[in-house]
Amino acid sequence: MCCMKLVAVSVLLGVGLCSDVLTFPPGFMFGAATSSYQVEGGWNASDKSMSIWDTFVHEHNEIIADGSTGDIACDSYHLWKRDIEMLKELGVDFYRFSISWTRLVPTGHINRISEDGKRYYNNLIDGLLMKGIEPAVTIYHWDLPQHLQDLGGWTNPYISDWFADYARVVFSLFGDRVKIWITINEPIVICDIGYGTNAIAPGTVIPDKIGTYLCNKNLMIAHAKAYRIYDKEFRPKYHGMISIVNQLFWFAPLSLEDTHATNLALQNVFGRYTHPIFSKEGGWPADIERIVAINSEKQGYYASRLPAFTKEEIELVRGTFDFFGMNHYTSRLVRERHNGENVIPHPLLYDKEFNYVFEMHPDWKTATNGWLALYPEGFRYLLQYIKKQYGDVKILITENGYATDTRQGLVDDDRIEYYRTYIEQMLLAIKEDGVNVIGYTAWSLMDNFEWMDGYKSKFGLYEVDFSNPHRTRTPRKSVKFFADLIKNRQLNG
Ligand code: NOJ
Repeated sequence: MCCMKLVAVSVLLGVGLCSDVLTFPPGFMFGAATSSYQVEGGWNASDKSMSIWDTFVHEHNEIIADGSTGDIACDSYHLWKRDIEMLKELGVDFYRFSISWTRLVPTGHINRISEDGKRYYNNLIDGLLMKGIEPAVTIYHWDLPQHLQDLGGWTNPYISDWFADYARVVFSLFGDRVKIWITINEPIVICDIGYGTNAIAPGTVIPDKIGTYLCNKNLMIAHAKAYRIYDKEFRPKYHGMISIVNQLFWFAPLSLEDTHATNLALQNVFGRYTHPIFSKEGGWPADIERIVAINSEKQGYYASRLPAFTKEEIELVRGTFDFFGMNHYTSRLVRERHNGENVIPHPLLYDKEFNYVFEMHPDWKTATNGWLALYPEGFRYLLQYIKKQYGDVKILITENGYATDTRQGLVDDDRIEYYRTYIEQMLLAIKEDGVNVIGYTAWSLMDNFEWMDGYKSKFGLYEVDFSNPHRTRTPRKSVKFFADLIKNRQLNG
């Protein structure tokens, strides 16, 4: 019996999937991830300058759930050797971490590279390679130099050159040893939340989504310039791969009447950051471009609030990927807003521009952080959707993981269940739907500063004791689950 039939039978009988489905394809890569602001600490070590997160947590401490900061975080600035040991214990193929712009290039511009910053990342990269672990480097994971934010940050079109210059520094310093590159992590959070709400840094709300859309366009161009620099100047000698990482929820219509609203949500949340890069024609998704132009005219703007791409810009951005980088955690139901219904516009609740509302299914179990609802099937649907939209692109899962709070401690059965069910759906997408997933990354290697949740949400495979100056790391039960998964290259049913 072919495996497909076996799957159907096993689902009906409620028994596990056949071992062929549960085995990872040859060459499949496993990793674990963190980001600089969330783990490094050393916020004012040596000549490091202030990033927007340093400013935000000091000036708007009330926004962080436990009033904490990332000043020390996991202290990976000093404890990176222990981090490498943990990665070795897990047996991962790669470690995804990010570079702090303000640690490496304290002025934000390339006129001065920090010797200490350079040493820190060289030590980390060399230490990983000595243990046989590939470094997978994110160039930007939200910690913009404050100095550049003072000049408008991601809303200033010059940012694409500032970012491209910084990326060139990073490639020239580390490109001989780093073969997996991510330009920018989760643009939607940077632009839609960072410039559309005051929940995260820089917390600069520019009304009518003007900040969000300016950021969106500038960021696409910044990514593309960095990609082109790598492609032209570094790839010929170093042969690495590079792309951008998007955070994607799966969206399903609440009812049949909500299909249109769901398509709009997909194009807005997903397409605004993927279509310019991954589609054949490039540029903004057509419906989004049209609707924003109509709304802008009605509001009396002389041009669309969504800045147009020139033909040259469309060509610059189109095709700037070697793989599709994707962070996935959860799903939402989408419906149209009812007439007269009062919903507060927020990127995670209601989009006024496109008139759709997000909901969670009452049967979905939710993690303690509130937003992470469990719907593993959504992962498979999303992977199918990417294949349908963008063809047989290689997909690298750059983050997937589950949050607990202090109550779960070291026996994190809920996290193991999350990983097991989500990874199972990913394997089905690979084996049954032919989706080309090349690797999977667990978020996170260890508990860390979870942005506005502070240290309350714990995503770590390793627990970190933040009350202890040594920031002791202790493996949770999920470490064994992962280490076995990686060793056997198989998900045990
Ligand atoms: C995605 C972000 O990249 C990461 O920084 C964050 O901690 C996780 N989501 C969990 O919220």
